[in-house]
Amino acid sequence: MKNIAVFASGRGSNFIKIYKNCLTGKIEGKISCIITDNKRAGIIEYAKSKAIPVHVIIPGIFQSSTDFGNEILRILKKQRISLVVLAGYLRMIPKNVVRAFSNKILNIHPALLPSFGGKGMYGMNVHNAVFESGTKITGVTVHLVNEIYDSGPIVMQRAVDIEECMSAEEIAKKVLKIEHKIYSEAIQKILNIPFKIANNRVIFEN
Ligand code: GRF
Repeated sequence: MKNIAVFASGRGSNFIKIYKNCLTGKIEGKISCIITDNKRAGIIEYAKSKAIPVHVIIPGIFQSSTDFGNEILRILKKQRISLVVLAGYLRMIPKNVVRAFSNKILNIHPALLPSFGGKGMYGMNVHNAVFESGTKITGVTVHLVNEIYDSGPIVMQRAVDIEECMSAEEIAKKVLKIEHKIYSEAIQKILNIPFKIANNRVIFEN
């Protein structure tokens, strides 16, 4: 069973869904640890109740981003992690971690990248911008993480029709339902189907 580390800063609804799908075998992997930068993250209580080790790593206590990354790497290596899954993790992943786990870090973004992405575009900021734009379609993107925010090769996308949505909150709710579906699908695929990256694309072998 391949070991997965989930990084999260908040409530962790994606994590809970992924965890449940690991138990049923929909994802052939095991969540071996949680890494969070927020000691009050809602995710902590749930993880502890399931006996999943939680590591609170606060970037501010390290001298540099490299030191912060080294601490993350120490845990990932100790737990023999094959895949890192970002689920509402609000920090930039240090470069040394991105390099050591090249094409082994997934992120979920609650819009159709490359639209509504980049620095500052997280959580409700995304849905507010989508609502204000008046677009009738938004969606979900799962992508590999590189050194630039929201710009790694796309693994999976799903469009969400928001023509009937009357607020950013309604959009968020509709999008989250789809996040819960496709993140597990993307994780299962990345863990089990060989792929290569060509022309900024993730190309699966079958
Ligand atoms: C999700 O909308 C995800 O797309 C974004 O942060 C949110 C996390 O939600 N990156 P949760 O903590 O998984 O409930």
